Amino acid sequence: MYNCIKLSWPKLSDSAHERILNGFVSHHNSVTQVRKVGNEYKHVPAGENFMKSTGYYHLMHWDDQIEFNKKILEPHNINYDNLKHLTIQQSINELRPHVDIARKLTVIYVVDGSADTVFYATDNNASIGVYSKSALTEIQRFNLELHTWYAFNNSVIHSVDNCQKNARTSLTLNVSGIGLFKDYIDMVNNIENSNILFK
Ligand SMILES: [Fe+2]
Repeated sequence: MYNCIKLSWPKLSDSAHERILNGFVSHHNSVTQVRKVGNEYKHVPAGENFMKSTGYYHLMHWDDQIEFNKKILEPHNINYDNLKHLTIQQSINELRPHVDIARKLTVIYVVDGSADTVFYATDNNASIGVYSKSALTEIQRFNLELHTWYAFNNSVIHSVDNCQKNARTSLTLNVSGIGLFKDYIDMVNNIENSNILFK
């Protein structure tokens, strides 16, 4: 089964895309940062010396999150219950292979910055969250279409490469946090009719 599957959820407006890109920057004091320092990736507290260097940046909670998310999803028929699970993430340059510890299931919508998402298999079961490519076998590669919603299996090792711009900015719905599906297969089979974001 593909670890990334296109959904028929609605495309957002151009003004929503602009609002997301600007909102990420204007809320930089709330952005969690994992920056590359030498060969290591380091957690830096939200807001501390915000800068766009190689790494992963995530705006997960901010003061006007619900109002902000309502505006970007307008004029669609929205399920307001789950707006607190809708966040903005940005990666700068390639992201090394990893599994996401805090979330196993998400929906992703790339707003800007085309790149490849690559999934891997490994013989090494000693999962520590971060991997070197030499220990892995590439199994699936997707160039996610911009402005398109995808179900995403975060529990399989994945990376981002072949970046066409240095920043890739996406909306992410943390489906694990909603707790409606027992695993990725359950999610893929039922998410289109679940009304978790759009009704
Ligand atoms: Fe990830």
